[in-house]
Amino acid sequence: MKKIESPAELFEKLQSVKPGSVLCNYSMEQCEKMFPIVEEINALKKERNAVILAHSYVAPEIILTVADYDGDSFKLSQDATKVKEDTIVFAAVRFMGETAKILNPTKNVLIPGPLTGCSLADSITSEEVKALRKKFPEHSFVCYINTTADVKAECDVCVTSSNVMKIVANLENDKILFLPDRLMGANLKNELKEKNVDKEIVLTSGCCYVHEQYDPDLIQFFRKQNPGLLVVSHPECHPGIALQSDFVGSTGQMVEFLQKTNKEAPVLLLTECGLNARMQYEMPDRQFIGSCSMCKYMKSNSLENILETLRHPEKAHSIELDDCVAQKAKKCIDAMFEYAAR
Ligand code: 13P
Ligand code: SF4
Repeated sequence: MKKIESPAELFEKLQSVKPGSVLCNYSMEQCEKMFPIVEEINALKKERNAVILAHSYVAPEIILTVADYDGDSFKLSQDATKVKEDTIVFAAVRFMGETAKILNPTKNVLIPGPLTGCSLADSITSEEVKALRKKFPEHSFVCYINTTADVKAECDVCVTSSNVMKIVANLENDKILFLPDRLMGANLKNELKEKNVDKEIVLTSGCCYVHEQYDPDLIQFFRKQNPGLLVVSHPECHPGIALQSDFVGSTGQMVEFLQKTNKEAPVLLLTECGLNARMQYEMPDRQFIGSCSMCKYMKSNSLENILETLRHPEKAHSIELDDCVAQKAKKCIDAMFEYAAR
């Protein structure tokens, strides 16, 4: 997408963002205040030979004005491999920065936000995975990309929300340990059953605190209130949500799905509200009905701390990984690229 070049142009986009939170009400005055920051960031990117990668959940002004690459976690992993510049400023969370560092190890990868965690990535340690390996020696260990490099290093293949079903279905082994998202795991089990794929799936207990908040019992209410409603959800939501959804997929797949559907149909988009905001400015005439669940980790990235990171890279969260861990984790991620391409 072409980058925004003036406060008025920025306000024109952002004024349609109204998912129901005070954080998502933009004024012309705010856009005017943002612009000197945007200009300094874009100048410093050139000076420092840096690029900015941004996940779809970060604040929309980051994506619209300074991001060089944006999208879901699978696309951003692929994008990270293509970067030629010296520095990657990754407006997202730590596990995504680690993945970029593993895939492009000579780059300086910096995370601008102060909260770099993720409730899924923080839910399991490599020691726990090693103990599970002893308990389930015959299982293939499949980890969601929302895990630390240490955890990936102990697993066989990594997946993202865009390819979990395809990869697990195609694994030669019928015994799978999927970690750490128990809700995505439950959705995976249901989908495999529906497609008559017979696998034994063992799950662990993690979940995303943002997606867990959506209550399946409310979908009928929303459908009654909004005839023709399209329910679109992320596979980190409860299976009761997935089973009632018209489409379930990664953030990138949800965008593609919405681009193909009838523009008149109202949409209930059940994922982190950054994607709702993005859809509202990309499809200003479309009706998105109230859902706002916010990820504090993703939202801790801001234009201000991106600027600070570029001004003082030495003070930012820089991703450093043990070589052995990085090499083992890379095998796990490369296995994902290989299976995803089949
Ligand atoms: P995507 O792979 O769909 O971008 O998901 C990442 C994530 O953190 C979802 O909560
Ligand atoms: Fe992690 Fe959930 Fe935030 Fe995604 S939305 S980064 S899974 S805490």
